Amino acid sequence: MASAAADSVAKVLSDLNINAGDWPPNLVKNFRLLRLDQIKLAKMLVDLGQSHLFQHWPDPGVEDEQKKAFFAQVAKLNSSYPGGLASYVKNARELLVDSKEGKNPYDGFTPSVPTGEVLSFGDDNFIKFEEAGVKEAQNAAFVLVAGGLGERLGYNGIKVTLPAETTTGTCFLQLYIESILALQEASSRLSQATCQKEVPFVIMTSDDTHDRTLNLLESNFYFGMKPTQVKLLKQEKVACLDDNDARLALDAHDKYKIQTKPHGHGDVHSLLYSSGLLNVWSDAGLRWVLFFQDTNGLLFKAIPASLGVSATKHYHVNSLAVQRKSKEAIGGITRLTHSDGRSMVINVEYNQLDPLLRATGHPDGDANYFGVSVGHWVCVQHGYKDASKTSFKSSTRLECMMQDYPKTLPPSARVGFTVIDTWLAYAPVKNNPEDAAKVPKGNPYHSATSGEMAIYRANSRILQKAGAQLEDPVKRLFNGQEVEVWPCITWKPIWGLTFAEIKSNVSGSCSISQRSTLALKGCNILLENLSLDGALIINSVDGAKVKVGGSVQNKGWILENIDYKDTAFPEELRTRGFRINKIEQLEQTYSEPGEFSLKP
Ligand code: UTP
Repeated sequence: MASAAADSVAKVLSDLNINAGDWPPNLVKNFRLLRLDQIKLAKMLVDLGQSHLFQHWPDPGVEDEQKKAFFAQVAKLNSSYPGGLASYVKNARELLVDSKEGKNPYDGFTPSVPTGEVLSFGDDNFIKFEEAGVKEAQNAAFVLVAGGLGERLGYNGIKVTLPAETTTGTCFLQLYIESILALQEASSRLSQATCQKEVPFVIMTSDDTHDRTLNLLESNFYFGMKPTQVKLLKQEKVACLDDNDARLALDAHDKYKIQTKPHGHGDVHSLLYSSGLLNVWSDAGLRWVLFFQDTNGLLFKAIPASLGVSATKHYHVNSLAVQRKSKEAIGGITRLTHSDGRSMVINVEYNQLDPLLRATGHPDGDANYFGVSVGHWVCVQHGYKDASKTSFKSSTRLECMMQDYPKTLPPSARVGFTVIDTWLAYAPVKNNPEDAAKVPKGNPYHSATSGEMAIYRANSRILQKAGAQLEDPVKRLFNGQEVEVWPCITWKPIWGLTFAEIKSNVSGSCSISQRSTLALKGCNILLENLSLDGALIINSVDGAKVKVGGSVQNKGWILENIDYKDTAFPEELRTRGFRINKIEQLEQTYSEPGEFSLKP
């Protein structure tokens, strides 16, 4: 591209209909440094009321490289948003005006509780849906949205590296991959397929998480998945805004850089489309895409049944939901019916739900409303500085949400949801210890502590339902949070993904004391008349069939409190407020195929 100096600045300005007198003088002084495409971008910014971005620019000859870098970033921001920066700023202004005026985005709509499928863990209906879901899994692709900053959690690493539980230390990403592989295996087994179909797995990352996610995968051999089965799609960030005029915010550490933040998990839909993956999947006969978030260690316990519901009910969209307590800070799945006849089933964010209910004849507002999409949940907060609602505490940006997808569907679309017991399906790790400890009594902590305890509770209750006797949990305080401590029971997803499978692995009279630890790391481990009071760890290869029974008693593993401020411990432990002291255990490893029996 020819430089403006060569082309004669005056001609370029007149061709572009620019009156330099109206422009920021510091920008005009630098014209001769700019190429034609950069002048066009500058014009766009000035037309959009963004002249403040150039106010501090020194004369040509000073920091020229940074000025060029500024335009490179503007070009990127402009090309990565549909309709460019002009459209971004226009949308932001409109939305910010609506927000300032407290406009109800659902004006004219009346909310009601929609009908969905309410499941009860372990009954015949649940088992039937689980089986249908497992069969269908080979026609599914899984998409993990993992581009978020995790500001509330405040963890230094990426969230998917955190252990879901510390008995085995399995991190979230490993748990998800092993669950998908177990489902893939079970699906082809159940449908008696001659060869196993690979279930595609996509991870949406962002600049904040991409390299570390890739590194985690590569340094762990993709946790057993074929590298070609996993695709990373990186979402771009969007510009931050300083005030209601949608003035773009400059980075506090680099005045030639516009501050950016992730655009929200809604990016995932356009990324899947633009990457061509949706077409590839559709050509390959895939029928389902399952979206899920980064830190819910229980999710895959609910996936088979909810996929079964989608397939059986022929849903176009199915949200996995749990009962919602009134006033809980999570969105509610709502049917919205407009006076003009339009109707949709959509997740309404909690901060919009209460005003919407009050405005439509429910004087108690959000008194008793349920439903929350488990797979995806985000809240948008503007955080105004003061009541004038003109500027923000910290810069904000437009966010789009994955669960708004049904808004784009025609009224004929079958949008449903599946309600699953909370204890089985939903325990995300979102909050740091300090904030979790301040959660009003009775509301979920959503911390690393509660996330890990929820895994033990779910596994204990599943074994109970499968016929084992378990001692009651005890209450303990970790990082200021009171939690129920059940026996620390974990298993690999391949050991049992559905209730029917787990039930077939437990027989006779099994009992487990509250202080026990049980880790089943293999697929063919049968618990038969086992009495456990201590720690028992079984490792076995695929071809080994191990019967475990008799009485196992030892000093076991003990949960010891640690303070989250005590830097002697790694962050992964401090954040949950305890560590496991492995005093004594029975650990058996079966590394060869064959039939074995353990009866101490
Ligand atoms: P969260 O609500 O947990 O948001 O997102 P977050 O950004 O990770 O955490 P906070 O709000 O800063 O504390 C739900 C899911 O959406 C993903 C997150 O990684 C998480 O899995 N997400 C969020 C994205 O993939 N991209 C985004 O831009 C935002």
